[in-house]
Amino acid sequence: MTDALTAVFSPDFLERESARVGALLADYVRRAQRREGPVLVQRSIEEILAALDFDRAVAQGGADLAALVATVLDNSNRLHHPRYFGHQVAVPMLPSSLADLVHGVLNNGMAVYEMGPAGTAIERGLVRWMRGKVGWGDEGDGVITHGGSLGNLSALLACRERVAPGSFKAGVPPNLVLLASEAAHYSVARAASIMGLGGDAVVKIAVDDALRIVPGALARAYDEAARAGKRVLAVVANAGATPNGAFDPLREIGAFCRREGLWLHVDGAHGAAALFTGRYRELLDGIELADSLVCDTHKMLGTSTLACAVLVKDRAALAGTYEQYAPYLHGGDEREGVDLSKLTFECTKAQLSLKLFFNLALIGEAGLAAHVERLFDSARRFHDLLARRPSFECFGVPQANILCFRVGRDSRAQDHIRQQLVQEGSFYVTRTTLRGESWLRLVIMNPRTSDADIEALAARIEALAAQAPAP
Ligand SMILES: Cc1ncc(COP(=O)(O)O)c(C=O)c1O
Repeated sequence: MTDALTAVFSPDFLERESARVGALLADYVRRAQRREGPVLVQRSIEEILAALDFDRAVAQGGADLAALVATVLDNSNRLHHPRYFGHQVAVPMLPSSLADLVHGVLNNGMAVYEMGPAGTAIERGLVRWMRGKVGWGDEGDGVITHGGSLGNLSALLACRERVAPGSFKAGVPPNLVLLASEAAHYSVARAASIMGLGGDAVVKIAVDDALRIVPGALARAYDEAARAGKRVLAVVANAGATPNGAFDPLREIGAFCRREGLWLHVDGAHGAAALFTGRYRELLDGIELADSLVCDTHKMLGTSTLACAVLVKDRAALAGTYEQYAPYLHGGDEREGVDLSKLTFECTKAQLSLKLFFNLALIGEAGLAAHVERLFDSARRFHDLLARRPSFECFGVPQANILCFRVGRDSRAQDHIRQQLVQEGSFYVTRTTLRGESWLRLVIMNPRTSDADIEALAARIEALAAQAPAP
């Protein structure tokens, strides 16, 4: 072995380099929290590869790891900066970041228990804890997957095997449809395509002005589907819709689904976090009527990307999802609820459970509740600050921590403002299209964002609006 190849397996390397890299990361977080440096950095691919001396590093090796990390940090966005209100990605609590390091060193897979006992045990503990919060007893089950898109697919696959048994082997019957909120995340249509229904099999349920499902519209969509000879695979509702964080009326939707014998899947990738709060739990009133629920931990539960809990009310439905035989993994002697690969699409899986567990183990349930409540509270306060400005129009009072607004009504002006903000890098703001028009969108993920940060943003937007091209 070359010296370099020996070194990369050496515990001395780990000790020395993790201390150097740890110091760089701490400095990056500290400076971001102090509002130093830009929030967004948008150099080109070639500029970043050149800064890393990429071609030489790959061809010859011998790079200084800490120097590479410093360049990566320089070319990365700063989620720890209080003026980050970009996408629905947590400002990670640092115990979860350390979980990534721990997993990265252990590299225990999770297909069967013997591959990763600690990660599996913690996952089973978290799934049990979350099920309890939903109000499902021991008959329920769950699994942690890499993110909400895969989570939605996983839940709908469990549903597919229940509603159209044998689909895993024989394919799906031709007449299945999904009834989903007009404001459903695109991963729902993607799941329908992947499952063999086709994206067109997603029938949209009309929403009200706040993007919440209108219960009467669900009944109409169901009747129309039945009249057209379709079978409904599932109803998909939002607990925290992507555009504005809206929560569908789950009790009414759940009661309808019960009456008609329909599977209710709740996409709580963002908003299921309300389960762990006191003051916002009522947003999920009726959640126990659902058959499946997804909850991303890397959105509102303060973990690094990427982990999603997929929870189902009926243990047997999840266990029956994947009818396969892989003799190298399970020779027919796998233990239900212990060897997890039969519960998930994935084979090798990272020990995702460490992230949330490490956070919880340091802050406890009360700390997690305080975190979520603070972000939701802040969004309401920031809404009031923006609504007070005569030139701003808010898209309703946010139910969660996603706030949409615009300055004037011209869509091109909103897009121009956002482009300018992205180029300047001082604030990370996203945009979305609502009722065919452009709106600016803030996702309040950083507990350090203050009223002064929002006032500074509003002032900058007003200045940019004054320079926007005339409609
Ligand atoms: C409601 C909802 N569902 C699903 C997803 C997809 O989650 P992920 O990005 O973890 O795949 C998102 C992402 O923003 C979302 O907002």
